[in-house]
Amino acid sequence: MSATAPEKRLYIKTYGCQMNVYDSERMADVLAPLGYGVTDSPEGADLVVLNTCHIREKATEKVYSELGQIKRMKAARAEAGGAMTIAVAGCVAQAEGEEIMRRQPAVDLVVGPQAYHQLPELIARAHRARGERLAADFAPEDKFDALPAERRPEGVTAFLTVQEGCDKFCTFCVVPYTRGEEWSRPVEAIVAEAEALAAKGVREVTLLGQNVNAYAGEGGLAGLVRRLAKIRGLDRIRYTTSHPRDMDEALIAAHGEVEALMPYLHLPVQAGSDKVLKAMNRAHTAESYLRLVEKIRAARPDIALSGDFIVGFPGERDADFEATLALVREVGYASAFSFKYSRRPGTPAAAMPGQVADEVKAERLARLQALLDEQQRAFNAAQAGRTLPVLFEKPGRHPGQLVGRSPYLQSVHVEAPERLIGQIVPVAIEASAKNSLSGQVAMAAA
Ligand code: 5AD
Ligand code: SF4
Repeated sequence: MSATAPEKRLYIKTYGCQMNVYDSERMADVLAPLGYGVTDSPEGADLVVLNTCHIREKATEKVYSELGQIKRMKAARAEAGGAMTIAVAGCVAQAEGEEIMRRQPAVDLVVGPQAYHQLPELIARAHRARGERLAADFAPEDKFDALPAERRPEGVTAFLTVQEGCDKFCTFCVVPYTRGEEWSRPVEAIVAEAEALAAKGVREVTLLGQNVNAYAGEGGLAGLVRRLAKIRGLDRIRYTTSHPRDMDEALIAAHGEVEALMPYLHLPVQAGSDKVLKAMNRAHTAESYLRLVEKIRAARPDIALSGDFIVGFPGERDADFEATLALVREVGYASAFSFKYSRRPGTPAAAMPGQVADEVKAERLARLQALLDEQQRAFNAAQAGRTLPVLFEKPGRHPGQLVGRSPYLQSVHVEAPERLIGQIVPVAIEASAKNSLSGQVAMAAA
């Protein structure tokens, strides 16, 4: 696990009834994993929460007069080079909503009693609105936060960043906090870079983004793919990583119509239990994901699917985990990444009850990986006897051998002359293993 976040000061002022006293404790609990320790004065606090009461009009007016004072402390902190975030919670927040921010603009966020679990997300959004990055709160390198390495040495394939950041706030994930809000590069900049790559001999680009299918440049990702497909020499296009909820009709249609768009899609589902998916804030159910897969397969029947899975998310019971296995069996993945849930300070799930013991996570992960491995082997084995177009990338480990990629992103080992590097050549697939295929060039190699 990464280092704990640096200590920050949280001042909560509670008005009204016992319910509010209890809620204030809950808020302190939710905020503790973000590094907030409770302090007894608003002076110099990083976060001030007024947990309000609406029972009498006078009580509401008291909140506004208190806010007037805290506003001055916020200004003083800002002058000293610091920052204070002001949140209004409780019944006034519930009753007046964002009206509070209009009446007192120093207020950064308003949160009703049903939404305290969203405080980390709301605070991150408030910080973003001020142009702050939260990256310093997290360990800088994070295996879950990494995109594939941007630049590969001189080659025939390349990565091309088109989008960064994430607005999804899955409750286990640090990316929305570390990478900030979703941001898309303009189409023209991407096209210019892709043309330059193609001119240097690149035949395949993989468009990168934390939420690549949320690409918001003109025409969306489908439009971008269609545009890039027109570039001479650029024969193959891939993209990663996608969120199921941004998989729109236009992009699905592109999979059926754009020849350069490779039949391989990384579409993380994370889990198969609706209860867990809801707690993860994934905004899809197992059923809606399966329907989506069906639609994509209707557009491109041979598409190879890949996914990400988390086992042992807080509250995951045996039956929930079985639902993940059932979903995997139903989809049939060509490849996948799977992880034990890892508790990241600063994320909502870190504060959730029902954390799962490591032995249980390990056992579930082993079972899931056994199933995914079996599917991957079966998918690879099913290629034997087929002839696939392979883009040769580089010499293989054995003399006289080249390594390339199938349309489905499988590594393919073939005895072939080096001059075929950079060419897309039909290969008769003869054998398969867990991570690769092998075969023979299926034409009189020119
Ligand atoms: N614990 C385990 N897996 C995680 N991922 C992201 N955050 C966590 C975490 N806290 C996984 C998700 C995501 C992939 C990139 O990393 O499956 O899709
Ligand atoms: Fe993290 Fe991906 Fe969820 Fe964004 S969509 S919060 S990057 S897991």
